[in-house]
Amino acid sequence: MAARARKRKGARKLGAWLIGARGSVATCAAYGLAGLREGLIEPTGLVTAREPFAGLDLVAWDEIALGGHEVCARRLTQSAGELVRQRVLPADLVTGAAPHAAAYEERVRSGLLDAADVGVGDLDPEAARRGSLPPREALEALSADLAEFQRELELDDVVVVNLASTEAQRAVNGDGADLRSLETALDAGRSQPASVLYAYAALSSGMPFVNFTPSPGASWPALRELAREKSVPHCGNDGKTGETLVKTALAPMFLARHLRVLAWQGYNLLGNRDGEVLADPLHKESKLKSKGDVLRSLLADPDLKAHVGIDYVPSLADWKTAWDFVHFEGFLGARMSLQFTWQGSDSALAAPLVIDLLRLTELAHRRGEVGEMPHTASFFKAPLAGGTHDFHAQYRALLDYAASSAGS
Ligand SMILES: NC(=O)c1ccc[n+]([C@@H]2O[C@H](COP(=O)([O-])OP(=O)(O)OC[C@H]3O[C@@H](n4cnc5c(N)ncnc54)[C@H](O)[C@@H]3O)[C@@H](O)[C@H]2O)c1
Repeated sequence: MAARARKRKGARKLGAWLIGARGSVATCAAYGLAGLREGLIEPTGLVTAREPFAGLDLVAWDEIALGGHEVCARRLTQSAGELVRQRVLPADLVTGAAPHAAAYEERVRSGLLDAADVGVGDLDPEAARRGSLPPREALEALSADLAEFQRELELDDVVVVNLASTEAQRAVNGDGADLRSLETALDAGRSQPASVLYAYAALSSGMPFVNFTPSPGASWPALRELAREKSVPHCGNDGKTGETLVKTALAPMFLARHLRVLAWQGYNLLGNRDGEVLADPLHKESKLKSKGDVLRSLLADPDLKAHVGIDYVPSLADWKTAWDFVHFEGFLGARMSLQFTWQGSDSALAAPLVIDLLRLTELAHRRGEVGEMPHTASFFKAPLAGGTHDFHAQYRALLDYAASSAGS
């Protein structure tokens, strides 16, 4: 990884720009951050609040200011109300954090509707207009919002985090193959996925980008090149929060004991807006791709029967249920099985990781690190730097990074 030292500033103020600003994960991150700041909640679920990460020179809760892009007209308080009814956000936190939430809402700007998502309910007309602009004009609008956020709040740095709905899978074309091809495509007015335009706006403004979604974001070679050119760190893709987290912690055990996994069938039942979006086959395809590759690669078996099913069950709301059935073989050919059921609040699992990634990304930028941030692999289903999916090995890499960063 290339590295270039950046001048260290004294007092720090980090801007966190959340794309999908009024979605469930963004709402939980915003109220959670306010709660941490006011001492209303414990930092449970935050990796960076534990040693040895707590000993690093990371931004404090009260050094982070929020803003973001959205395409829906729904207010943040409505999203919070939904999450209170679903027993995810505590009602007293919503009351206690109200002034912070109001300040955040004021800094939410109209985003860029992805072309494939036209037809979304409660759509902000300005986001639809931006989505129909030629890509260079859309980029200008996004970059202006980022620059205004940084200037008005006098922020030392801004980290852009993609928490928008998963985009529909698009046919691969050559536009993302390298930076020159992408620039040519943008000049020619060829439309690109919104996540790619958000990543381009961030990186070209010298701002780090975190892609918590399975959408392409900064994963195309063209964007990786842009990040290197601008000396910016970035990480992604697709937060590893639930079933995949358990899978990548358990699968190495079968390998270590030389037990042969014959089949690993997983079924996810989702009831939130994310689940509703994933009910569409083209959007589901993006998610299944980042979930499906993990086990075959971990168990070094390209032919493994590993199915992942996703069904939308509205009554479950934010409480995702995943049921996994693992069929495996031991000595003497004895066939056995393991089953587990995971029932988690998707947003409560994701939000603290978003705050962790903000802090780690700001640190990486301040330390002059450039590129895909391999030490963040444990946070993602499809880590940009590649490498093993083994959660334990990924976590060791994060510990090594912390050891090498101590005191810097
Ligand atoms: N919750 C988890 O555990 C988890 C784990 C991994 C990945 N993710 C991903 O994180 C993302 C957010 O999840 P969520 O549960 O908050 O979903 P959500 O549907 O509640 O929120 C997404 C928000 O993005 C907005 N949006 C859609 N397109 C946009 C665009 N082009 N620009 C700006 N905003 C846009 C929507 O209006 C919505 O408010 C999804 O892509 C999801 O797949 C979530």
